[in-house]
Amino acid sequence: MRGPMTISASILNADFARLGDEVRRADAGGSDSVHLDVMDGHFVDNLTFGPVVAAAIRPHSTLPFHTHLMITHPLAYAERFARAGSDLVIFHVEADDDPDAVIDAIVAAGRRPGIALNPETDASVVLPYLARVDLLLVMTVNPGWGGQAFMPEVMPKLRELRAEVDRRGLSLEIGVDGGINLDTIGDARDSGGEVMVVGSALYSTDGDLAPTVAALRDAALRDAALRAERSAERT
Ligand code: DX5
Ligand code: ZN
Repeated sequence: MRGPMTISASILNADFARLGDEVRRADAGGSDSVHLDVMDGHFVDNLTFGPVVAAAIRPHSTLPFHTHLMITHPLAYAERFARAGSDLVIFHVEADDDPDAVIDAIVAAGRRPGIALNPETDASVVLPYLARVDLLLVMTVNPGWGGQAFMPEVMPKLRELRAEVDRRGLSLEIGVDGGINLDTIGDARDSGGEVMVVGSALYSTDGDLAPTVAALRDAALRDAALRAERSAERT
């Protein structure tokens, strides 16, 4: 069944000149985890950072680090990000390596595995791996950049995956990544999401992130209550 909602702060749109401070803002603002977007210029067009930077910011936070590998060869890097202090290492099912081998490598490095799928990838592609991962990350933008618009057309797939996870009684969490803000978090939550990855909606604000984190939690609850009310009126 759907577990509690958590907020994972994506630093992709943070100020890269002061990443340590930006990660501290996520901690101080009440985020539940930090989301590190790693891009290799092949799997996606953009480039971000590698394990050296991940290790450098690790001491600035006590939160779990979720590393989202948008890279073609996750097998070659899983262990390096594990050593850099990533608690959870997420790779894409569309990457070139065998997903079972990547999961094995993450587990062998003593970390928790997660698997991500792009908006256009069918739910059936990840089903064989659900029992082996701790997080299923459903992309609601095409990966590559922060600040893109949430794709509501992914919600039927999210609901389908939620139903499958529940049907099989699996304990993994479902994350939603891309375009999550005050207007979209309700949809993502209502469709079965638990770990809400939030980038630009957090880091476009200066100073204390706590009011935005609180507003996001409220928006998810408020929207759910409204929807329940509306569906009760219809019956
Ligand atoms: C997209 C990344 C996301 C994204 C989140 O490639 O995986 O984590 O940057 O940022 P927003 O919330 O701005 O979409
Ligand atoms: Zn991400």
